[in-house]
Amino acid sequence: MNPTAYAIAVAYGAVSLVAVVGLLLIWRSTHSERPRRTDTTDTARLAHGEKAWFAIAVAALGVLLLATLPFIPYGDNAAGAGQQTVAVDGAQFAWTITPRQVQAGVPVRFTVTAADVNHGFAVYNDDNVMLFQIQAVPDHSSNIVYTFEEPGRYQVVCLEFCGVKHHEMLTTITVGPPA
Ligand code: CUA
Repeated sequence: MNPTAYAIAVAYGAVSLVAVVGLLLIWRSTHSERPRRTDTTDTARLAHGEKAWFAIAVAALGVLLLATLPFIPYGDNAAGAGQQTVAVDGAQFAWTITPRQVQAGVPVRFTVTAADVNHGFAVYNDDNVMLFQIQAVPDHSSNIVYTFEEPGRYQVVCLEFCGVKHHEMLTTITVGPPA
C-alpha cells in the first residue's frame, strides 16, 4: 500500500470511528434507563432575565439607529464637503449640463431632472463601458455621486426612449486632471 493510500485509509478510519462513537453517545443520551432528575430550573427567574435582555437589545438597537441615521449615504446626506456639483436637465432632445467640466479625483454630485418627459442620463467612458446611469424625471431632482478617476472626455447618452430624436441626445463631459 502506498503511503498516501495508507494515510487516507487511517484518516477515513478515524473519522468513521469518531462518527460511530458520536452516534452511540447520542443514542445513549436519548435511551437512558435512569429516571429523569427532578427539574429545579427557576423558570420565573429566567423569564424575568429574558425580558431584561430583550429590553437591553431593543435599547441598544435604537441608540445605534439614531446615532448612525445622519451617516446614511443617500439623499442630502451624500453631499460631502468638497464635492463638485453639476446640474443636469434633459429635454427633447438635448442635455443641459452645468458645468460641463469637472475635476478628476473629486466626487461629483449630479442633480438630474427633466423638462418634458423621462430621459435616462448615462455616462460612458472611452471603452463604451457605462459608469453610471440615473433617470431624469420631470418635476423631480435625482442625485447621484460619482468620482471620475481618469481625466478625459466622457460620453453622455440618453437611455430612455423619449421621442423621435431620442438617439440624438448625446453630449460629452470633460474631466480635467486632479488639482
Ligand atoms: Cu432623452 Cu431619450
